[in-house]
Amino acid sequence: MATSPLALGETLITGESIHRRVVELAAEIDRAYSGAVQPVVLVCVLTGALIFTADLVRALHMPMEIDCIAVRSYGGGTDSPGEVGLVKDIDTPLRDRDVLIVEDIVDSGYTVVFLVDHLKRMEPRSLRVVALLDKPARRARPVSIDWRGFDIPDRFVVGYGLDHDGRHRNLPDIRVLDGA
Ligand code: IMP
Ligand code: MG
Repeated sequence: MATSPLALGETLITGESIHRRVVELAAEIDRAYSGAVQPVVLVCVLTGALIFTADLVRALHMPMEIDCIAVRSYGGGTDSPGEVGLVKDIDTPLRDRDVLIVEDIVDSGYTVVFLVDHLKRMEPRSLRVVALLDKPARRARPVSIDWRGFDIPDRFVVGYGLDHDGRHRNLPDIRVLDGA
């Protein structure tokens, strides 16, 4: 059976609205960490959170360090099958540090659950999560998200770092991928 081609669909969130929201999130995060004794370690979840992290850190004023982690959900396609594996670990020792995971989107929740378990083992002083997007309708595991940019419906989206098969990360807006 022929599969229907994927096409870029409607714009769900414009680049302008994203930037406004990122500035709001940064102000809330700055406030929350105002008493931090050491620079906060931001852990960017590659590759999807790359652009969000780049914009967020430039809107933040608090002292910080940035590290990156890469994970993979096995199975491919647009469904998270629940198996998550580590592809690249961070280099920063997290013991007694305030750590903030920066994610592009929380979908089933398996990725964030994996990341929280993994990073908690390094005994950080605190561990919180900021996600640009949240698809609550798809949640399979309960996840605590400390800051979220936008709730979105159960649609597959691309742009602003999010991809389908490696493509469309460079779009400034977040758009629906029709047929995904
Ligand atoms: P989860 O483990 O199901 O929560 O999935 C999280 C990961 O799946 C995200 O970090 C994304 O990489 C990817 N993902 C989930 N939904 C979308 C989407 O709509 N567009 C692009 N990537 C997505
Ligand atoms: Mg991701």
